[in-house]
Amino acid sequence: MFGKKNRLARIMNPENGKSLVMAMDHGMVLGPTRGIEKPDSTLKLLEGFMNAVIINKGILTTAFVPDGKTGIILRVSGGPTIIGNDLSTEGITTSVEEALRLGVDGVIINVFVGTENESSSLISFARMADECHKYGLPVIGATAVGKDKEKHFDPDYVKLSARVVAEFGADIVKTYYTGERFEEVVEGCPAPILLAGGPHADTDEETLIMVTEALEKGAAGIAMGRRIWQSEDPRGMIKALYGIIHQDWSVEEAISSMKK
Ligand code: 5RP
Repeated sequence: MFGKKNRLARIMNPENGKSLVMAMDHGMVLGPTRGIEKPDSTLKLLEGFMNAVIINKGILTTAFVPDGKTGIILRVSGGPTIIGNDLSTEGITTSVEEALRLGVDGVIINVFVGTENESSSLISFARMADECHKYGLPVIGATAVGKDKEKHFDPDYVKLSARVVAEFGADIVKTYYTGERFEEVVEGCPAPILLAGGPHADTDEETLIMVTEALEKGAAGIAMGRRIWQSEDPRGMIKALYGIIHQDWSVEEAISSMKK
C-alpha cells in the first residue's frame, strides 16, 4: 500500500532500513522532566540528526516546527502518570482521524504484556492497528512492563512481548536491549526493532556500545529519549548515535566526534 510505504520512508531511512527516532513523549507521564522542560529548545538542539520524533499532540502543535524531513510519530496511548495509577492501565487517547488531521507519519502505542492489564492493552492495540492500517498509517508497538522494571532486560520476556506486539499488527516494534540473546528477540519478531533507552546509563559510551551491539545483532536503530537529551552533551550524543546508525562509525569514532 503506497500510503503506508510513503509514511514509513519518513520514519525508517529507505536506503538502509535504519532509523534514529528521538523520543520526547515523556512529559505525559513525567511532566516537565529534565532535558525536555522546554520542548522547542530540545527539538532545536537536536535538529538535523533525527529520522523521526515520538511526540504527544500538545507538544507537536506548540513546539514542533515542520521541516519537511523529520517524520512524526504521534503517541496515541496514555492515561496514568508517574504519581497516579499503575502505568499499565493506559488506554487509547487519540483517534486515527485526529492523527491524520495532524498529518503524522505513524502512531505509537504502549502494550503491557505480562501485566494484569495485558488483554485489554493488546485488544485495544490490535483494534487501533486495524483502524490505522485502513488509512495506511504505520503503527509502532512499544513493549512496556508497568511496575516490573526488571522485565525490560529479560530475554525471554522481551522475545515474547516483541513477537506478540508484531502478531497484533505492529509495523515496527520498540523494545529494550537484553544484551545476551538479543539475536533471538530479532529473529522471533517479523517487524523491525528499534531500541528504547530507559532512564539510566553511567556514561554516554555505555549507550554507544549498547547501540553498536544491538545493531550488530539485527536491531534497525533506536527510539530513544533520556539517554540523548539527559546527556551532558545532547547534541554531541545524537550526532554520535547518528554516526553509528547511519555512517558505520565505530564507538571510538563516535566518542571522538563528541569531543570536537
Ligand atoms: C516514554 C516512552 C519513551 O518513548 C520510551 O521509553 C523511549 O524513551 P527512553 O529512551 O527515555 O526510555 O515511552 O513514555
